[in-house]
Amino acid sequence: MSVHFIGAGPGAPDLLTLRGRDLIARCPVCLYAGSLVPQAVLTHCPPSARIVNTAPLDLEAIMAEITAAHTAGQDVARLHSGDLSVWSAMGEQVRRLEALGIPYTVTPGVPAFAAAAAALGTELTLPGVAQSVVLTRTPGRASSMPRGETLAAFGTTGATLAIHLSIQNLARVTADLIPHYGGDCPVAIVWRASWPDERIVRATLATIEAALPDGIERTALIVVGPALGAAEFDESRLYAPDYDRRYRPQTADSPWADWSDGDD
Ligand SMILES: C[S@@+](CC[C@H](N)C(=O)[O-])C[C@H]1O[C@@H](n2cnc3c(N)ncnc32)[C@H](O)[C@@H]1O
Repeated sequence: MSVHFIGAGPGAPDLLTLRGRDLIARCPVCLYAGSLVPQAVLTHCPPSARIVNTAPLDLEAIMAEITAAHTAGQDVARLHSGDLSVWSAMGEQVRRLEALGIPYTVTPGVPAFAAAAAALGTELTLPGVAQSVVLTRTPGRASSMPRGETLAAFGTTGATLAIHLSIQNLARVTADLIPHYGGDCPVAIVWRASWPDERIVRATLATIEAALPDGIERTALIVVGPALGAAEFDESRLYAPDYDRRYRPQTADSPWADWSDGDD
């Protein structure tokens, strides 16, 4: 018996890995975080599966479901939205599984920031503009931020920021970032990326609050940085005609010549 943690993706049921789908299809128990995991993903469960929405449960109740399945020798599909590496609450469950000696696996999923970037049709790392993406959040009712992980601190880097769990703190986000990025820095808010009712609002740090329509709450990502909508950026050297590289050596005596498989 194993607990299979599976990243269920940002919302669209077909943004799920094949491995995740197949694991869901063969687990007799499915525990899913119902606040964000779409119902359509549950159609992959076997017809006889025990399917439990963990949104109204506390950690003890979730562990009780898992230990009951363990006692019965039944594999568990444990679904969290997006990917499991960020804000999934997987860590505390894994710690308990390890203490109990219950095996587990982890299958990654499409994170919300990637779905938001896809919705925007934007590369978040443009050469010469931004080469880092910071996945962050602002403090919430249930979570404080470690010292040093402030928007102002990240703002000094000029990196692209993907700010989660923070749409309710938009005024604070803009106030913290304008001194670093400037009021004319582009911002995009992507609400329910990949869902049928996905919405995108584009503005600047100075105008985004006023531009936000009613009803944009909870499942929204705030993306900030000069890479958004930048028309001026360098082209990647990787595909420059004169760039000497392993897959495209420019001369017979290139240090890369022996490495080439001639495919590129
Ligand atoms: C608890 S976190 C889960 C993050 C998730 N594990 C991931 O990999 O993206 C929830 C936050 O992620 C963002 N989020 C999740 N799904 C989203 C979506 N489809 N569109 C926009 N933002 C989303 C929102 O900022 C939301 O408040």
